[in-house]
Amino acid sequence: MIQNLHQPRCILVTGGAGFIGANFLHHIVPKFPEVEIINLDKLTYAGNLLSLSEIESASNYQFIHGDICDLNLLHVLFDDHQITTVVHFAAESHVDRSIHTPLEFVQTNVVGTACLLEAAKTAWNLNASDPAMYRFLHVSTDEVFGALGRTGKFSIDTPYAPRSPYSASKASADHFVRAYAETYELPVIISNCSNNYGPFQFPEKLIPLAIVRSLCNDSIPVYSKGENIRDWLHVHDHCKALETIIHQGINGETYLVGGSAEYSNLDLLNILLTIVDEELQRPVGTSQKLITFVQDRPGHDFRYAIDASKLITELGWSPQYTLSEGLRATVRWYLSNHSWLEAVIDESYRSYLKAQYEIS
Ligand code: NAD
Ligand code: TYD
Repeated sequence: MIQNLHQPRCILVTGGAGFIGANFLHHIVPKFPEVEIINLDKLTYAGNLLSLSEIESASNYQFIHGDICDLNLLHVLFDDHQITTVVHFAAESHVDRSIHTPLEFVQTNVVGTACLLEAAKTAWNLNASDPAMYRFLHVSTDEVFGALGRTGKFSIDTPYAPRSPYSASKASADHFVRAYAETYELPVIISNCSNNYGPFQFPEKLIPLAIVRSLCNDSIPVYSKGENIRDWLHVHDHCKALETIIHQGINGETYLVGGSAEYSNLDLLNILLTIVDEELQRPVGTSQKLITFVQDRPGHDFRYAIDASKLITELGWSPQYTLSEGLRATVRWYLSNHSWLEAVIDESYRSYLKAQYEIS
């Protein structure tokens, strides 16, 4: 296992202006000042450079505005930099959007991933080099495994059974990653993680949506009766898992990442909204009254749960946050980062970007 240790010299992070990518950059840019870190992001609605203001002037960090589907740009990036490591976050990531615009998900998640694989394959001199010299970490989701019933957990042996256009596009990307490992011996690793929450998450996802709606005294939409179950992980725990996998993971392997924190949506919201009321010093129950049951999402997966034992026993990772600690830290972050939140709500983060980049 020792000979497999990977030491990045230049990391290409894709989608670093999004939720998990931005948290990952906050984690690694100051920690590894000797490593060159390039963030390639298209700046879709989910990309927000305000999330990176604290690290944007670090000498080891560079932002490149671009699309992972632009193969010429990828070849230039690999030619211009001695990229040893790819950490691939860039994706369309919201299930509800995928129901309305599935082809955008095919384009970025499938075609974009294939372009990145192709660029890495072209640049990396795989036959001549030590297999630990390069690493392509594809950041994927537990949703590729489909939906669970009341019992059982997803494991590395669970067959793929995606049920939404989002999860089908991520599953397809995972298959391309595996195919490049088998066919071209590209040194890839796949991580499949459960639902994340924490700072910088766009408020279309359940937890930041509920915090924002509660602050605005607005209704909080809960699909069906709120009985669907998700396995929640604080994004900082995910980022530490990714760092561990980059350094110690074994090429060709898959690692499942999850916090063993399963809650129904309604139970989760009751914990979260109690914390919101406590932090705002208003009567507990104020925010719960905003919960409104609405029509279910089509094809809504009932339950996700992760068996992360391989990552825990083989690589020594473990999550640090309990759900209530992580939710309290998250609520405090949103309450003390008003300017970030307001810029997202009033969409001024887009005009800030439009002034600098050609985006719509
Ligand atoms: P996000 O939607 O917040 O961010 C995605 C980022 O990718 C944005 O900055 C966006 O501008 C960028 N992007 C989109 N299309 C692009 C393109 N064609 N070229 C370059 N950049 C592009 O997503 P997230 O929640 O941070 O998720 C990151 C990754 O982690 C995704 O691959 C997702 O599938 C995976 N994942 C997410 C979760 C979760 O709970 N959020 C859980 C498991 C896995
Ligand atoms: P979401 O944050 O969209 O993540 P995912 O669909 O990838 O799991 O949703 C988490 C859960 O919350 C999921 O069961 C759908 C549900 N949900 C609601 O009930 N209401 C909402 O407004 C949203 C966005 C999600």
